[in-house]
Amino acid sequence: MSQFLPFLPSSMFSFLLLLLPLLSPPAAAMPPPGAAQLRPGFYAETCPEAERILRGVMWRAMLREPRSAASVMRLQFHDCFVNGCDGSVLLDDTPTMRGEKLALSNINSLRSFEVIDEAKAALERACPGVVSCADIVVIAARDAVSLSGGPDWEVKLGRLDSLWASQEDADSIMPSPRANATSLIQLFRRFNLSIVDLVALSGSHSIGDGRCFSVNFRLHHQYAPGTPIPDMDPAFRRRIELLCPDDGDGNVTAGLDATPFRFDNQYFKDLVGLRGFLNSDETLFSGDRQTREVVERFSDDQAGFFSAFVEGMVKMGDLQSGRPGEVRRNCRMVNAHSHPRSQLPSSLLAA
Ligand code: HEM
Ligand SMILES: *[C@@H]1O[C@H](CO)[C@@H](O)[C@H](O)[C@H]1NC(C)=O
Ligand SMILES: *[C@@H]1O[C@H](CO)[C@@H](O)[C@H](O)[C@H]1NC(C)=O
Ligand SMILES: *[C@@H]1O[C@H](CO)[C@@H](O)[C@H](O)[C@H]1NC(C)=O
Repeated sequence: MSQFLPFLPSSMFSFLLLLLPLLSPPAAAMPPPGAAQLRPGFYAETCPEAERILRGVMWRAMLREPRSAASVMRLQFHDCFVNGCDGSVLLDDTPTMRGEKLALSNINSLRSFEVIDEAKAALERACPGVVSCADIVVIAARDAVSLSGGPDWEVKLGRLDSLWASQEDADSIMPSPRANATSLIQLFRRFNLSIVDLVALSGSHSIGDGRCFSVNFRLHHQYAPGTPIPDMDPAFRRRIELLCPDDGDGNVTAGLDATPFRFDNQYFKDLVGLRGFLNSDETLFSGDRQTREVVERFSDDQAGFFSAFVEGMVKMGDLQSGRPGEVRRNCRMVNAHSHPRSQLPSSLLAA
């Protein structure tokens, strides 16, 4: 029960409290509080082909657009950190709900929602109403890593989809590319993720791109004009500055490491060489002794990185809000009969 409290910014909390008197039915009729029991093979009887179908969808998406592997994998992070892995990040805004898609870390940045739509459509044909969007994200993220040359692993399933999404929650939780190691360590700690988890999960930036928008502050404003950036290799800086001039197009992208389509430990080699793109990446090498030791270890030990990454993804996949949910028919909207405000978390009522 206390498990979901850290997810709620106090403003959201008081907003929900205001709604309490409007509640019906009373707490006793609510589904039991707390987390679903996640386990491998959850759909073995109800949708035995689910994982095979999803791997095919991910594979075809990558043939169309190789970067979609990175974009899909990132969805797990942005989903799970905001009120648990509940597909909330997939909900479109409605006239009465500002969801997560327009949050600062997501707008003009989070992508490949159409791959999840395609996956959902394929599963609705095979076994209608069975596989949650939240589970699809976790399976597709695993497949994206595996099909990019990274590790493969078994995922725990059985999540439900949220009835609600909150831009405010996403804005207050998701870290900035300007973040320093200290604040990243603290943020991950809130989710019971260790320093090793933080560094390993940041290794997800072994695939994918970042926008100039995300590096412009670091390049042009973090340090006095004309002075070196202490933790950026000068030759790398010249390359990135050509791509990302101060007044340039913030939507231009660059690889987050030197091999943005291959899931490997190049990212850590780049950090050691001061060729990390984001401040939040390079700070893991330059900003803290403990994270630096892990970066150095992974730069030298790809197998060690892979196993720590899998452990981190599984732990991150375990995050749950404990709120009631459903299996959405369309990942972008709640099912017609479920009105979010009539279904507050039962754990809140007990609080
Ligand atoms: C440690 C804190 C993290 C920060 C501050 C951070 C920040 C960012 C930023 C700023 C971008 C580029 C966005 C853009 O410019 O449009 C990005 C991309 C990405 N992030 Fe993270 N991230 C973090 C952790 C993670 C984690 C834990 C994962 C997944 C496990 C992840 C997966 C990705 C991927 C795959 C991309 C590339 C996406 C694409 O090419 O579409 N990130 N991240
Ligand atoms: C973190 O772990 C503690 C102790 O096991 C537990 O009480 C708490 O609910 C966990 N928090 C999260 C966000 O999982
Ligand atoms: C790290 O970032 C936090 C939050 O922005 C800030 O308060 C703190 O002073 C920074 N720490 C260091 C060591 O720069
Ligand atoms: C990127 O493109 C979007 C949509 O085309 C636009 O609204 C936005 O202002 C651009 N962002 C930046 C940082 O240039």
